[in-house]
Amino acid sequence: METALMWCFWWSSVLLLLSVVICHGFHVHGPSDPLIVHLGGSVMLPCFVEPPPPMEELEVEWKRTDSETLVHLWQDRESRPESQNQRYHERAHFFTEEIAHGNFSLFLTNVTREDAGVYKCAVYTNLDSDETLIEIKETERLIVSGGHVISAYAGEDVTLNCFVDSNIPLENIEEVTWKKMDEDILVLLYQENEVLTDSSHERYRDRVEFFSAEERRKGNFSLRLKSVRTEDKGLYICLAFSGALSDNTTVEVLQLGKSMFFMDKTCKNVAELSELISQKWIIRAKIMWGALPLREQHWPCSLGGRGKLSLPCQSQ
Ligand SMILES: *[C@@H]1O[C@H](CO)[C@@H](O)[C@H](O)[C@H]1NC(C)=O
Ligand SMILES: *[C@@H]1O[C@H](CO)[C@@H](O)[C@H](O)[C@H]1NC(C)=O
Ligand SMILES: *[C@@H]1O[C@H](CO)[C@@H](O)[C@H](O)[C@H]1NC(C)=O
Ligand SMILES: *[C@@H]1O[C@H](CO)[C@@H](O)[C@H](O)[C@H]1NC(C)=O
Repeated sequence: METALMWCFWWSSVLLLLSVVICHGFHVHGPSDPLIVHLGGSVMLPCFVEPPPPMEELEVEWKRTDSETLVHLWQDRESRPESQNQRYHERAHFFTEEIAHGNFSLFLTNVTREDAGVYKCAVYTNLDSDETLIEIKETERLIVSGGHVISAYAGEDVTLNCFVDSNIPLENIEEVTWKKMDEDILVLLYQENEVLTDSSHERYRDRVEFFSAEERRKGNFSLRLKSVRTEDKGLYICLAFSGALSDNTTVEVLQLGKSMFFMDKTCKNVAELSELISQKWIIRAKIMWGALPLREQHWPCSLGGRGKLSLPCQSQ
């Protein structure tokens, strides 16, 4: 009696084990978190199966769960582009050489807004099937570019480039900030569709501006910095924010050396000039007529009289 019971128990265990092996022969894995995708970019939709199922009778189906759109089909040992939805034609790449390893990942290129949604990777064999869901969570594009290095002489006006490339409407771009990074100084702030010139650090007040509203609508948040000073030298950052998104670019302003600029032909700043001369500097002068440089000239240091210098300030 006891032996019979034990046999019965043994057999049922074996049967249970067998059924586990048969019914759950493989398991399909995907990513646990939604995928973040940049529009226009590409994304790997991971899907792999353990243990790799036999190639015979294997069918792998990639589908959208929302629209039942067929994204990719692998059947009878080959891809079936003819049954695929046209929208995914040549954009959904299947790795044929990976199939033997149970890797059925799909590489989606040229991602569009419409690609956002839930995808199902379903794997079928004669004996078994399993599936996993993968979500593409569309993100908006916010790319800030412009990063460059500027060399400037004191007195010059320069443009620090910052271009915001985005599919977000301008009114939803909450903030674009120009900061002097090394000193953490606010240079110029654009917030809630307004340029807040009053929040600029006093060192920059009245010397900085964006280009026109028209340019800003195009994403042009370049900074015009007027009458560069020695202390303007350093690293600047242009930061853009919209919701959870943010991006930035940096511009380095280098100073080419101490030099004097004459913003008009009346030779201003003679006192400062004399100081430079006493330090045996070479004088570099730019004769300006309005914003137009008329002539650029270099003088060796030579000081006549009592610390006063007369320069030939003639225009051409
Ligand atoms: C599947 O194949 C792709 C392409 O070769 C590879 O990038 C990915 O890492 C593979 N995944 C796994 C789980 O092996
Ligand atoms: C994907 O984008 C690239 C570059 O923009 C383009 O050359 C290619 O034709 C596009 N492919 C498809 C299938 O749309
Ligand atoms: C920004 O606007 C200014 C003024 O129109 C222009 O000179 C500059 O090239 C523009 N920058 C970009 C990146 O479009
Ligand atoms: C600027 O962007 C880079 C890369 O996108 C990021 O690592 C860095 O933290 C950002 N800097 C700031 C100050 O937000």
